[in-house]
Amino acid sequence: MNKIGIIGCGAMGTGIAQVAAMAGHEVFLCDSDHAAWPRALTNLSTNINRLVEKNKISSDAAQDILNRILFTSAMEEMHGVDLVIEAIVENLEVKQSVFQQIEGIVSDSCILASNTSSLSITSIAAACEHPERVIGLHFFNPPPLMQLVEVIPAVQTAPELPAYAMLVMRQWGKYPVLAKDTPGFIVNRIARPFYGEALRIYEEGIADIATIDWAMTELGGFRMGPFELMDFIGHDVNYTVTETVFQAFFYDPRYKPAFSQKRLVEAGYLGRKAGRGFYDYTEGVHRPEPNCDPVLGEQIKKRIVVMLINEAADALHWGIAGAEDIDAAMTKGVNYPKGLLQWAKEWGYSACVDMLDELYDTYREDRYRCSPWLRRRGE
Ligand SMILES: NC(=O)c1ccc[n+]([C@@H]2O[C@H](COP(=O)([O-])OP(=O)(O)OC[C@H]3O[C@@H](n4cnc5c(N)ncnc54)[C@H](O)[C@@H]3O)[C@@H](O)[C@H]2O)c1
Repeated sequence: MNKIGIIGCGAMGTGIAQVAAMAGHEVFLCDSDHAAWPRALTNLSTNINRLVEKNKISSDAAQDILNRILFTSAMEEMHGVDLVIEAIVENLEVKQSVFQQIEGIVSDSCILASNTSSLSITSIAAACEHPERVIGLHFFNPPPLMQLVEVIPAVQTAPELPAYAMLVMRQWGKYPVLAKDTPGFIVNRIARPFYGEALRIYEEGIADIATIDWAMTELGGFRMGPFELMDFIGHDVNYTVTETVFQAFFYDPRYKPAFSQKRLVEAGYLGRKAGRGFYDYTEGVHRPEPNCDPVLGEQIKKRIVVMLINEAADALHWGIAGAEDIDAAMTKGVNYPKGLLQWAKEWGYSACVDMLDELYDTYREDRYRCSPWLRRRGE
């Protein structure tokens, strides 16, 4: 593998281009919007110069990396590439159309990958004349820093392609995990309760946002609380992923979106980028103080973590990925303090089952059904 083509020079495409160029590849970075180029170049230069300042690479090496990345608006320039990674807008029709265009440009042996977070790889591949060369390569933000890559074969993908893609990702210094082509793959599926259960606790009036964030960071060891994180990601993006996963799971109540977040989107309170989300980011406005009651804090932490554990156990139950990969995905893709299956083991499987059954008894909602995988171990 020599030349790489990347379509879309937004946050993800630019980061992936850096990773590929640092692995020694010549990279063609294509975007239909010229205005995206200067921003991408500034980001790339800043990131690479930071590596020089930290003595991780020499300034000559930095210049070589930048020289290996070629910006273009013409996909035709990608005719000689061996792998294309698409990182454009999250829209199935647009992605399908780009895959059809690129197929007419590259050689028959070129691999076509999508960085989609929530669309089915199978439906993207279905638009292609040679769907067997299509695969999902899901990087995490920011790609140069996050080690995880989910490798997702479509139903049509050639049997030998996933192993080859995993090998290439390892050569790029990444930690690839194999995931089934199901909604949210591994990370975006298992992480849903981090937001969903926090929103539920808040909407029920059990605790306010500052207290929930405090419990998850101070007691849970997460880097950011759910509300800070949703504000950071942006409610338009985070709510859309939840709604997409909910619909894609045939409206399984476990993934049900929350009205409080939907209303924020409707109001345009999209989070940090809008100056307002769950928190108010206006200068001079103080953050609300959490209620640092350790009993309440533990209750919040346990409820959210056990729902995450249940989701991880269920992903294993349905064969979405292997146990080791499920735990690695959450620590290396979204910086969880520990793997959720490991967490279940430490808390004791039967204790986890009891917590879930208690929630189920209280609410009588399918949302709180315990995964068969967990129940079997809890017996
Ligand atoms: N942002 C994240 O945290 C994240 C993480 C993992 C995966 N993803 C996925 O990666 C993809 C890109 O996300 P992003 O956050 O980098 O988006 P972004 O909006 O920052 O960038 C997308 C870029 O694609 C360009 N583009 C759109 N249509 C195009 C076309 N037809 N041809 C060429 N360029 C086109 C846009 O001009 C833009 O520069 C999406 O599928 C998203 O779901 C995003």
